[in-house]
Amino acid sequence: MTGRHAAPSAPEAPPPPPEKEPTMTTTGPTLTALEERARARPAPVGEGALVACEQLVRIYQSEGVEVQALQGLDLAVATGELVAVVGASGSGKSTLLAILSGLDVPTAGRVRVGPWDLMTMTPRERVAYRRSMVGFVWQQTARNLVPYLSAQENVALPMALAGVPRRERRTRTAELLDVLGVGYCAGRRPHETSGGEQQRVAIAVALANRPRLLLADEPTGELDTATSADVLGAVRAVNAELGTTVVVVTHDSAVSEHVSRTVAIRDGRTSTEVLRRTTTHDDGSEHVVAEEYAVLDRAGRVQLPREYRDTLDLVGRVRLTLEDSHVAVRRGTTEGHR
Ligand SMILES: Nc1ncnc2c1ncn2[C@@H]1O[C@H](COP(=O)(O)OP(=O)(O)OP(=O)(O)O)[C@@H](O)[C@H]1O
Ligand SMILES: [Mg+2]
Repeated sequence: MTGRHAAPSAPEAPPPPPEKEPTMTTTGPTLTALEERARARPAPVGEGALVACEQLVRIYQSEGVEVQALQGLDLAVATGELVAVVGASGSGKSTLLAILSGLDVPTAGRVRVGPWDLMTMTPRERVAYRRSMVGFVWQQTARNLVPYLSAQENVALPMALAGVPRRERRTRTAELLDVLGVGYCAGRRPHETSGGEQQRVAIAVALANRPRLLLADEPTGELDTATSADVLGAVRAVNAELGTTVVVVTHDSAVSEHVSRTVAIRDGRTSTEVLRRTTTHDDGSEHVVAEEYAVLDRAGRVQLPREYRDTLDLVGRVRLTLEDSHVAVRRGTTEGHR
């Protein structure tokens, strides 16, 4: 025995660098500092999303009167999402869809769908965009289908125009009518089918050329509640089975109960979003949780709900204070000075 100490073992790996402590300040950053920070790192709206609208403005001039249909709208829709857009009449829903469909061009802002920049597209690119990237369904059933063609002829028509071979047209038509649950209507003309069946055939027509985005402007607007549910079910099937991204405009609050995200537009801006998710209880029962969020746009604007404003009499100037974990909005003037 040598009595020597055991040779020291291999040096241990150096300890990992200490995690960076989040910078803590006792007073918290000031609003100005936060604003500066936000300005320094502008995260593009909808980075990686299929649809990205940023500060979208659409002004109509009508008989010398200016109507601001969209007033700086931000919206991002991820690939594969099904989003319902709701809002009062005149809030700008159809204007938004007309822009996304390539039918209309915004006055200002940015809008991108997939690789297409909808602000700078040439007329030729616009035609290609409308043929390949988007499918559109109108509220008026009669506007969606050619009246003297059968359902299958209606669905095959856009494919024929795009030069799809006859055999492929036939399989695709059968597949689409099937997904939409109207295979039995294949040989019937629009007047031989119900309103709900016509809208489901119309969705098949819109999807004929495999667009990545389906836009539907109040597709159930002319239908009764039960039929609306059928059409909405078909829209969900399209989203789930074909993976098509869907933006559907609706007046119907029941519609928004069936989708994972509902975006509300108020006065030409996205005001709130409701996210729905299904949770499972300990006993295995499932239930849907809906959470409503206000939308803070890129310029830092948020819309306060009318009930809040009315309850606290918030009008005109208000006071904003930065608290530890929230921002408080208070009446700007004290009683007696109003
Ligand atoms: N071509 C146009 N010329 C002038 N103003 C227009 C035009 N199209 C729409 N507007 C105006 O723009 C605003 C937004 O209209 P939009 O059709 O987008 O509303 P909406 O949310 O679809 O309403 P609805 O639920 O009634 O269909 C409205 O004030 C409307 O009057
Ligand atoms: Mg509309």
